[in-house]
Amino acid sequence: MGLSFIMGTRLDHVAIAVRNIDAIVRIYRLLGVEPSERETIAEQGVELLMLPVGNTRLELLQPLDDDTPIGRFIAKRGEGLHHIALEVNDIESVLDRCRTEGVKSLMDKPRIGAGGSLIIFLDPRTTGGVLIELVQAIDT
Ligand code: CO
Repeated sequence: MGLSFIMGTRLDHVAIAVRNIDAIVRIYRLLGVEPSERETIAEQGVELLMLPVGNTRLELLQPLDDDTPIGRFIAKRGEGLHHIALEVNDIESVLDRCRTEGVKSLMDKPRIGAGGSLIIFLDPRTTGGVLIELVQAIDT
């Protein structure tokens, strides 16, 4: 992820809430998209699967049960687009800048997300209706 230093903010992934990852991955296979990592993040109540597309990825999110953020999202709005994730170099400085300008986050501070990265979600009521996840890759 060293390139992001040169290239600045990049689209890390577009996330889609689904009831059943296996059912949906079949559709993307038809479109020539093959899955890569699959992972369970118990703290967020999801199982996820990454589908590399070009220089970004789709993230399929399946709730571990109905009483989780993704489970509630699907119950209310059905399957579909859930969030976009932007990779930034310094999540804390971006958050400071956002808060100063009235763009709020949904959690107090970043937490560990997919692949061990640092993540935080911005409040869609302050971002023009889009749930935006900020991602800072862990240096390896
Ligand atoms: Co995400």
